[in-house]
Amino acid sequence: SKSEPLKVMISGAPASGKGTQCELIVNKFGLVHVSTGDLLRAEVSAGTEIGNKAKEFMNSGRLVPDEIVTAMVTARLSRQDAKERGWLLDGYPRTSAQADSLEKLNIRPYVYIVLDVPDEILIDRCVGRRLDPVTGKIYHLKNFPPETEEIKARLVTRPDDTEEKVKSRLQIYKQNAEAISSTYSSIMKKIDGNRPKEIVFKEIDSLLSQVKEDHTLAINSV
Ligand code: AP5
Repeated sequence: SKSEPLKVMISGAPASGKGTQCELIVNKFGLVHVSTGDLLRAEVSAGTEIGNKAKEFMNSGRLVPDEIVTAMVTARLSRQDAKERGWLLDGYPRTSAQADSLEKLNIRPYVYIVLDVPDEILIDRCVGRRLDPVTGKIYHLKNFPPETEEIKARLVTRPDDTEEKVKSRLQIYKQNAEAISSTYSSIMKKIDGNRPKEIVFKEIDSLLSQVKEDHTLAINSV
């Protein structure tokens, strides 16, 4: 029977665990992970024109202007691998203008996942987060400490992960969340993200397996 590649959006407050879950989702479902935060951080470290424009906004915890991010995302989604393997969009859309841009291009996910985590937990997760610049893996000093001393020595902290900046990122997230979720209300699935990451993934895994099956059935019944 025919099957279409999955198209998934994942959303949630800063440090709700999007990147952590995306790693697990990609391993299991083979989707192309499109994270606007990761793409922008790569542009910044490569010192590109986009990176230079984005840097100040990111470091201060504000959103990068819509037109910069939208151009980057639509270019990435139109590449062959995303069409063939399906995609997992992480960190976009983040404003109602960004959601409108996707709607105009007829780019819609099958499911819109929202990770739900209480505010006080988010701050601690950001402040303890460390990234491995070599593997791209996400760690946490308490929750997920690095496996070896060698990894530990090379971990870096994101410049926007101070308590003060996390608070302002969270406020910006809340200002936009409602407008975006109204675009996707019919396909929205809220998931309790304040549980061990394996448990959260188990729920996402069964959700995505179900979504995949439903779509395969729908295509083959036409
Ligand atoms: P972005 O990189 O998207 O940041 P964010 O949304 O703030 O999300 P985070 O990366 O902080 O968190 P996450 O949810 O991925 O959590 P993680 O898995 O790492 O964006 C950064 C910036 O780029 C923005 O501020 C903006 O400037 C710009 N930008 C990006 N997209 C844009 C857009 N569309 N428009 C405009 N500007 C844009 O987990 C966090 C920590 O918690 C880790 O330490 C992890 O180990 C730990 N953890 C994860 N899961 C669990 C668990 N279940 N239990 C305990 N600890 C856990």
